[in-house]
This record gives sequence, structure tokens and C-alpha cells, in this order.
Amino acid sequence: MSYPYQIHSIEDYHAAYQKSVETPESFWADIASHFTWHQQWDEVLNWNFYDPKIEWFKGGKLNITENCLDRWVEKQPHTPAIIWESNDPHTPSRTLTYQELFEEVCRFAHVLTQNGAKRGDRICIYMPMVPELAIAVLACARIGAIHSVVFGGFSAQSIADRIQDAQCNLVVTADGAYRGNKTIPLKSVIDEALLTCPSVQKVIVLTRTNTPVSMMKDRDCWWEDEMKKISAQGNLPFKAAIMDAEDMLFILYTSGSTGKPKGVVHTCAGYMVWANYTFVNVFQYKPGQVHFCTADIGWITGHSYIVYGPLSAGATTLMFEGIPTWPDAGRFWEIADKHQVDILYTAPTAIRSLMSFGTEPLQGKKLDSLKTLGTVGEPINEEAWHWYDENIGRKNCPIVDTWWQTETGGVMISNLAGITPSKPSFATLPLPGIQPILVDEKGSLVEGNEVSGNLCIRFPWPGMLRTTFGDHERCRTTYFSTYENLYFTGDGCLRDKDGDYRITGRVDDVLNVSGHRIGTAEVENAINRHTGVVESAVVGYPHDIKGQGMYAYVIFNGIHVNEEQTRKDICETVANIIGAIAKPDKIQFVSGLPKTRSGKIMRRILRKIAEGAVDNLGDTTTLLDPLVVEEIKSNKL
Ligand code: WT7
Repeated sequence: MSYPYQIHSIEDYHAAYQKSVETPESFWADIASHFTWHQQWDEVLNWNFYDPKIEWFKGGKLNITENCLDRWVEKQPHTPAIIWESNDPHTPSRTLTYQELFEEVCRFAHVLTQNGAKRGDRICIYMPMVPELAIAVLACARIGAIHSVVFGGFSAQSIADRIQDAQCNLVVTADGAYRGNKTIPLKSVIDEALLTCPSVQKVIVLTRTNTPVSMMKDRDCWWEDEMKKISAQGNLPFKAAIMDAEDMLFILYTSGSTGKPKGVVHTCAGYMVWANYTFVNVFQYKPGQVHFCTADIGWITGHSYIVYGPLSAGATTLMFEGIPTWPDAGRFWEIADKHQVDILYTAPTAIRSLMSFGTEPLQGKKLDSLKTLGTVGEPINEEAWHWYDENIGRKNCPIVDTWWQTETGGVMISNLAGITPSKPSFATLPLPGIQPILVDEKGSLVEGNEVSGNLCIRFPWPGMLRTTFGDHERCRTTYFSTYENLYFTGDGCLRDKDGDYRITGRVDDVLNVSGHRIGTAEVENAINRHTGVVESAVVGYPHDIKGQGMYAYVIFNGIHVNEEQTRKDICETVANIIGAIAKPDKIQFVSGLPKTRSGKIMRRILRKIAEGAVDNLGDTTTLLDPLVVEEIKSNKL
């Protein structure tokens, strides 16, 4: 068995690319015909970027889980679907075959419906990286409910915001999560969040850590008890809800340049085709291989390359509960050997962090099953690229540098493993179907041999976002209004003479800290909630391991017991409001912020100072109070 639309040579790539641009509808119709449908679509594509309106395969009827489960249960019931590796290396791993995963998903689909969940409902999932997380996600899709997975590192407040925005009526969680040597009390975080979430009727709680939890009568029930009830009823298969291609599949919240995260919406068919097509082609997956994506399912990378991409391709996907550095920095390599991993897909920040441990953790590791390496989430510096290539790939594995976003659903610009050439620090070429262009500030096309500009996409692709939940206008203004008739990515980019793309980083007020996207406005709002804080400004600065670090300038008029304690308190406030991932790395107390006469903070100046380029601040004459810059410079951390 192989994939009829898998690209096998560079000529194939060019031919596919050309066809995708010249006749996109027949190109995608061909690919879509290889999936399981209940009814053929009426129209392949209907779109405009003004509203925006994007419809792929409209009128087509399907259920994504029939494509991820049923069709593989028929062909290869005993093939491992999920291999799970625990946080603790001594806990035995688990394997669920396609047959077993199918049964579990059906069972949990019954649990959801018997607890009142219906097609179209929004269900919040806040769980550790255990197979039950994938089961919950797929069970939602099976019944036609819309999942909203929230990463386990987010605070009660962040969860509450997301639940309220989506008006979720059900939550699936666990008593706790293991992360390295820590235990995170997920259920008690949910309890706190739900104090302000009247829409939630039911909470289903998986046992994972045996952390004591409070179970609320009529609201909370145990995953295990509910599953037993279904078994007692005879474990019937669950007939998949028949969805329209354009029905919502999931919401995933992500940060932008304004204070409030937005719920990016993906729909059933286009997302499925895109996640599958990109998975099969970028990684050059061959049946039987083991694919290990180290992301958490709480992020889009996990949605597309742990769950939907691999499973829709009948692949074996490895899920890892823990972290790369516990109990030691050899954990990834040990897992690669233990499960004979073929494809390893991780973030540059993880590579840089593991690099800092030297090669000692690699002692005794064979790594001879690896065939393809991948990176995602942020630009990869050449040093980390070469370390990955030499020490992990043993100069024998192509590295795919995959550029994409929560909004794009799947990989947009990347080399194809072993097919199109890699170039360190370049994402290289667009996938078939993707038409990138670079524009200047005014929106004029930038052309030439070696150019840079803002990265936009000028034609729809099946996996693109359709809206932002509950606020279509926000979707329009964020992505489709900066430049007329273009999707704006928010990234700056360079294109070299070979036509290869190199992503240079965000051009808006969004930071990328350890591959996590964080809006500066969101962090500022959180800092400003601390008593004593008058105002703050957050900017990014280069950080050896995290890629970008977070530098906060804070006007504080409270009384410091000592400055260090105040810094910790402010970090606690941010952790409380957003989550630990959003804690600033540096906090400098200032008496004022550089502002223009109209009151706008001059972030350019603050960024320069945080980067250490204090002698090169450019024009400061338009500032309201140029003296404040001198003070900030002399107290720089
Ligand atoms: C932003 C999207 C894609 C899933 C994980 C992050 C940056 C992503 C790369 C890359 C340079 C990259 C961009 C993008 N980014 N991949 N290979 N090279 N930058 O998803 O949280 O939606 O963040 O991550 O700035 O806009 P996300």
C-alpha cells in the first residue's frame, strides 16, 4: 500500500506544484477522491478573501474519523495506530492498534453522547499527553462535536476565557498530569476555571496521577466509570455523524497582537486533506514507519502531526507524555531506539536545549532507525541545524524545516524529505497548492533575485482557517485586511536567488518563546493586573535556547520589599493569568516608557535596548521625553 498522491522525485514536485497552481480544483479533487466520503462534494472551491469566505468540497459528506479509523480497521486492524511512551521511563509503554483505537473512540463517543453531548457542541479538552487525549479528540469528531483542546500549561483564567468564548458545555480532563518530576493538578485548575463558566454542564475526569480531586455532584464523573457503563451495554460501535465538508472540526486558540487569544476554526474535509497530504509528502512517510512528533496535542503541531495527519494515513504515531530533559537529556534518543522511530519531528528550542548537554546523553544510543528529521515552530539557527544533522541524523537523514502556523492547518513551506534539497535555516519551497508572495509595507509585490518582505499567500489552500470563532470580522481584520486580496501571515521573509524562502520572524507584536506563540499585549495586560504596576511594555530579545526571550519594562509605584521579590511576584501574576509559559525572562523597573507625542510606546527603541544595541537607537527626537531613554539604557539588565 502506498499513497497515490505521494511525490517521489523533484520532477514530481515541480509537476504537482504547477498543476496545483494552474488547475487547483482538479488537483485537489484528485487527491480528495482517495478519502472515504458518504457523498461527493458539489463544488471543489468557492472563495473570496474579502469576507473572507473559504469553502472546500462544500456539499461533500464525511466523517474524519472514518478516514482515520474505519478505513484502516478494514485494511490493517492489527497495525499499531498509537504507541505511547510514559513520562516515567520505567512505566511500560502502551500500543493501541487501529482496531483497539477504533473501539476506544467508539466507546468514548457513547460516553460523550450519554452525557448529553451533541453534534455542534463545543467540548473543551484539558488533558495530559496520554492516549485518552487522542481518544477524546477523535470521539468529539466522531459525534460531530467541535473540540477545543487547551494546552495543560495554561492557567485557570486562560481556560475560563477559552471556555466562555466557545461556550463549551462539556469538559474532558484528568486528575493530574506528570511533567518531568512535577505533577500538575489539572482537575483543580479546571474547578477554578469553571467558577466562571456557567455553560459547562459536565466534566469527565480521567485518572492519571491519583492526585486528590473534588468531584461535584451531577457535574463531574470519572472516565473509567463511564467507559465501564458502555461496556456493560455491549460495546456497540458508534455510527459516525455524517458531517458536511465545511462543518467545524475544531477550534484552537492562539495569540495575536491584541490582548485576547482568538479561536482559529478548522473545518472537516479541507483540514483532513491538507493534514494528510502534507504529512505524507513532507515526511515521505512509508507504511510501517514510526512517526514521533514531540509536540503536545494542545498545539496545532500535535493536532496535525500526532493525530489527524498520521492516523488519516494509517500510520503509526508515537505519543510521548514527558519532557526532553527528564530524567536526563537522553530521553528522546532512548525513545527513538526503543521504538525504532523512523521520523523525528521536534522544535529548534528542544534541539538547542539538548545541544547544551553536549554529546554525553548520546552515548550508547544507536539512532540507526531514524530516516527523517524535522523541525517546526521557529527559525532554526545554523549551529542547531548542523548539530541535529551530525549528532542525531548522523549526516544520513534529510532535515525538513517546516514553516506553518495554527491558521494554516499544516505545513506550507518546507523541503520534502530526500526529494527536494534542504538548505540550513531555510524552509525552502512552498508545498503544492501554496502561492507565497512577498510584499512591502504598502502592499506592493517585491520581486527580484534576493529580496525580503512580508510573507503573504495569494490563493486558498484546503487547510486554511475559515474564521475566528464567534467573530468573523476579527478574522478579516487580522489576516485579510492588511493587504488587499491576500492572506497575511505576520511573518517577515527572505527569498534567495534559488527561490528558497527563509522565515525571519514575526513582524507584529507576537513573540515566539521556545516555539510558543505569545502576544506581548496579553502579557502586558497580565503584568498590569499586579497591584503596584502602573504600566508595562514587553518586547522580545534573542535568547540562546528559547529563540526569543521576553523582556518586560515595568513602571512600578508600589513599595518593593526588594526588587527581586517584586519580580517574582509579577511572574506569579502572569503565571496565574496566562500560564507559566508566559513568564517574562527579565523585568526592568523604569520610571517612564519612551512614547511619541501621541502616546504610542516606541517599541523599536525598547527592542534595541533589550537586544543590547544601545548605541544604535535611531531617531529619538520625536519622543515626548527623550531623557527616559537614557535612564532605561543605563539600567539595562
Ligand atoms: C509562527 C506560528 C507551526 C506550528 C507551530 C507554531 C513561526 C513556525 C517556523 C519555521 C521559522 C517558524 C512563525 C509562524 N514558525 N514554523 N519552520 N521557521 N518560523 O505554530 O503557534 O501558530 O506559530 O511560528 O513565526 O508565524 P504557531
